[in-house]
Amino acid sequence: MKKRYIAFILAISALAFFSLQVKQRAQKLPHIGVVFYSSEDLYLDYVKSTFKKCAQGKADLDILYSKDQQLVQNEQIDTLLKDKVSVLMLNPVDRSAAGSTLEKAIKYHIPVVFFNKEPYAEDLKRYPSLAYYVGADARESGIIEGKIVADYWKAHPEADTNGDGILAYVMLRGQPGHQDTELRSQYSIQYLNDHGIPTKKIEDASANWQREEAQALMTSFINTNSDQIEVVIANNDEMALGAIEALKTNGYFREDKYMPVVGVDGTLPALRAIEDGTLLGTAKNDYREQGKAAFNLAYILSQGITPTEENIGFTIFDKQYVHIPYTQIDRSNFRIYLGEYASSN
Ligand code: GAL
Repeated sequence: MKKRYIAFILAISALAFFSLQVKQRAQKLPHIGVVFYSSEDLYLDYVKSTFKKCAQGKADLDILYSKDQQLVQNEQIDTLLKDKVSVLMLNPVDRSAAGSTLEKAIKYHIPVVFFNKEPYAEDLKRYPSLAYYVGADARESGIIEGKIVADYWKAHPEADTNGDGILAYVMLRGQPGHQDTELRSQYSIQYLNDHGIPTKKIEDASANWQREEAQALMTSFINTNSDQIEVVIANNDEMALGAIEALKTNGYFREDKYMPVVGVDGTLPALRAIEDGTLLGTAKNDYREQGKAAFNLAYILSQGITPTEENIGFTIFDKQYVHIPYTQIDRSNFRIYLGEYASSN
């Protein structure tokens, strides 16, 4: 009797142990490595918040920052691959390093979802089922900036301060080599020219997406070109806000001294600047949709499933790309987007 009782107790304990193990296994979330080129980038902070939200209860994210150094990023990638993450989500420091990253990833059979900085197409194409890119078509944002400026220029003849019929601009560029830097700079000016507005470049330099750098650059541009500048076009909002600070220090945005300034991203401080009348407009870079699409892709890949429009909820084009459209934000509609920040971020 005693023996049977012990056997019964053992059987119950074994069953309990087994079901605990099954439960633990079921609860084990995929481990996804996420690497950002830097921790000092406001727009990417928003993207990161989206990743974290999406990952709740679905995946463990290991988030790293590469201090804007490709060598640091290479080591981080090596560590994550050796740790056998299910998927690598990667915001490259240098676009041209994507090919060698993919060569390493293929050895470990680990898929890579690039986001925000686009690898060269020839690198991505070599790894059709391993590599994806989630971002936006930067040309659209340049066109939106051009359109905001063109509409203003046409409606405000006084914007042509020297009356020569030529729009004299300063271009504040993002990081050199970044597709957003090149395409936003090119397409904003092309839009103006295509719409009958001749342009003249007064200054054109990189402030690396950063507000303080842009403020310092703009200060020196104002000092050397005093009254020649008629418009400031920035590749992102942070740099536009840096330019606005420099302009404020030089007497702009007071009484009737005004300078049209445009940016890209639609960050919260940029929307506030539209509200207070300093920023003319911006192109919303949709961090929520980009973040969701990149996470959904990574999650599906972590399950060993081939991504499709149905299972990630976003259209995949050329088999490896997801692009989220930009939207124009100006005084006519900024409140809608301010509301979005208030509801959640
Ligand atoms: C751009 C964005 C910039 C900066 C950059 C980083 O898309 O507009 O503000 O975040 O990406 O790669």
